[in-house]
Amino acid sequence: MAETKVEASDADILLAQRLLSASARHDIPVLSILLKDASANVRDPATGTSPLHAAIEACAENKSLEPSAVKTVHLLLENGAIWNDLNKKDETPGCIALRLGLKDVYDEMVMAGVRAELLFGRMKGEEADAKPKTLAGDNNVYLASTLRFNPTIILDEEDNAVMMQWEDAIMARHAETLLPNPPGLRIMNVGHGMGIVDRAIQARSPDEHHIIEAHPQVLARLKEQGWHEKKGVTVHEGRWQDVLPKLMEKGVVLDAIYYDTFAEDYAAFKEFTDGIIPILDEEGRFGWYNGLGADRQIVYDVMTKVAEMDLYDAGFDTKWEDIAVPADLHGSDQWNGTRRPYWQIDTYRLPVVCINPGSQRDMLTISEYLYPLRTEAKVQMSLRIESITPIEHIPRTRNRVWFQNSQNQ
Ligand SMILES: C[S@@+](CC[C@H](N)C(=O)[O-])C[C@H]1O[C@@H](n2cnc3c(N)ncnc32)[C@H](O)[C@@H]1O
Repeated sequence: MAETKVEASDADILLAQRLLSASARHDIPVLSILLKDASANVRDPATGTSPLHAAIEACAENKSLEPSAVKTVHLLLENGAIWNDLNKKDETPGCIALRLGLKDVYDEMVMAGVRAELLFGRMKGEEADAKPKTLAGDNNVYLASTLRFNPTIILDEEDNAVMMQWEDAIMARHAETLLPNPPGLRIMNVGHGMGIVDRAIQARSPDEHHIIEAHPQVLARLKEQGWHEKKGVTVHEGRWQDVLPKLMEKGVVLDAIYYDTFAEDYAAFKEFTDGIIPILDEEGRFGWYNGLGADRQIVYDVMTKVAEMDLYDAGFDTKWEDIAVPADLHGSDQWNGTRRPYWQIDTYRLPVVCINPGSQRDMLTISEYLYPLRTEAKVQMSLRIESITPIEHIPRTRNRVWFQNSQNQ
């Protein structure tokens, strides 16, 4: 159905201008009055600036304004301001805070993103389900598609990079953190790809090495390369969704699990992590390729925190190791022929996840984190769920789907 555009009245335009200007002045008393009648999501049509953008950009010339910017941002968020709207320079409010080095404002924006994503994740994903399916966006479509293999990259039919050689060091470190005391351990890797992590695992001489892989061409390569004959290796053909319950039925117990699939969304990751405790030894470790939102720093920071909190909810504690990605990665010709670079930030945050022994809790629970706001704001927030703009949605497990704001679709 064609959208009917409603022309804004002069009064609406004036109200929006006053709101943007009060936000830029960090004028809390005036803002509080204006927000009774106006939406916190008005925009300057020429620049796409929202009140959040205006409040943060106002610190560009004078960083000492940061404390009042934090208060203004907080008020706007309490009143339903959308955390990840883009202005015409392709910046979210958090991107501006990061560019200007405003750490407290940035943290406020990350928290807003985490709240929105946690709430969104708890709503049934009807909107996401209604979206047209693309290769990177639908696991079954991807699994039925033709892949191209080069020595340093696997590409899907739409030129999305499924796996790339530059992740070598990351994969090696995952294997080390998952199997810190080799040999003789039992591990399962979900998603073989180029086999980088599986080779690193083999080098640590596990007793049992389960590989779950679902793409027929990757499975054919596993055969060609003799993986089935390697000592301790069992290749399980099929989607983890089908294989994992069978392993559980058989009573398999593991010391480590690694998860790195493709064309699966955050909900699939959550389904996986919610279900693995029964198959993991109580001293066991879990790791996954943390590529959620890696084409935009704030989205990466939000999704990293969301994953940590959901894992905590599922009974895990997460520690992070920061790894610098290769200095020449950005803009390098490794991306030639790919649809778009899926990695555009400088640091990979490597998760090392253990079952939570139930002691030393120093992290806020999800409900504490979700609602640090005053009671009326909680009510407002739940009423304004529709005002949450999902990260379009949600970065796939290898984030071969990039950040997009709904307004840009
Ligand atoms: C990014 S690659 C893994 C890269 C691997 N970590 C490496 O070191 O080369 C993702 C792999 O997961 C597989 N995959 C995707 N969805 C899957 C599913 N539901 N179950 C099992 N494997 C899946 C893909 O076919 C692909 O081989």
